[in-house]
Amino acid sequence: MIIIKSQSEINKIAAACRIVAEILEGLKAFVKIGISTADIEAYVDREINKRGATPAFKGYRGYPSSVCISVNEQVVHGIPSMAARLKNGDIVSIDLGAILDGFYGDAALTIPVGDISPEASRLIMVTEEAFYKGIEKAVAGNRVSDISAAIQDHVESNGFSVVRAFVGHGIGRSLHEEPQVPNFGKPGQGPRLKEGMTMAVEPMVNAGGPDVKILDDGWTAITADGSLSAHYEHTVVITKNGAEILTKLS
Ligand code: MF3
Ligand code: CO
Repeated sequence: MIIIKSQSEINKIAAACRIVAEILEGLKAFVKIGISTADIEAYVDREINKRGATPAFKGYRGYPSSVCISVNEQVVHGIPSMAARLKNGDIVSIDLGAILDGFYGDAALTIPVGDISPEASRLIMVTEEAFYKGIEKAVAGNRVSDISAAIQDHVESNGFSVVRAFVGHGIGRSLHEEPQVPNFGKPGQGPRLKEGMTMAVEPMVNAGGPDVKILDDGWTAITADGSLSAHYEHTVVITKNGAEILTKLS
């Protein structure tokens, strides 16, 4: 069942989303050569606590950390570690969820570390662009897979591939609600979009093939062919005038 949110529920989701947006914005400056991914988690914990929120991922199905940090060929769900130090040329995907007053916000982005290769920089750019292509279709009356198809089309026409193993999702009082929002598929399928739906749209894009495998930690997804991967996610609400991005600072 897809839960349509009232304006007061949307306001609460927006408040959780604002916290996520502020922290991810701060991380763009905090991320630099030499810090560890555990340092990033410590920063996130401090900033979330300061705002009276709770990290959404810690304990979710046993996930051990407050934030997912996935470097280079890691796709999603990388676990922060003191041993994982960022070096020049890395790309680091950071996925953060927060709970405030019973409602969730969820967003992710990929941040360059120092000077990255032209290929890595194009991958990050195409992933962000694919999100916006998808969001253009997130209009009341369209169907969920209109978003999916627009994302896939942009990614593949730029020579990259979309991950199939993970998808976007409805969000609200739970981190994952219906509907699923795949980043691939034919247009015109799935549930119809309605005003008041809140969703996390999150393309995961590989420079090589779409397949992933899971490391022995049971969480970290990496590209099967070792190619780079990027992630871009926002929580959005469907309004009269299209999708409004909630995890963005205005
Ligand atoms: N943004 C991801 C998602 O929506 C993060 C979940 S990670 C987990 O699925 F650790 F919480 F599982
Ligand atoms: Co998500």
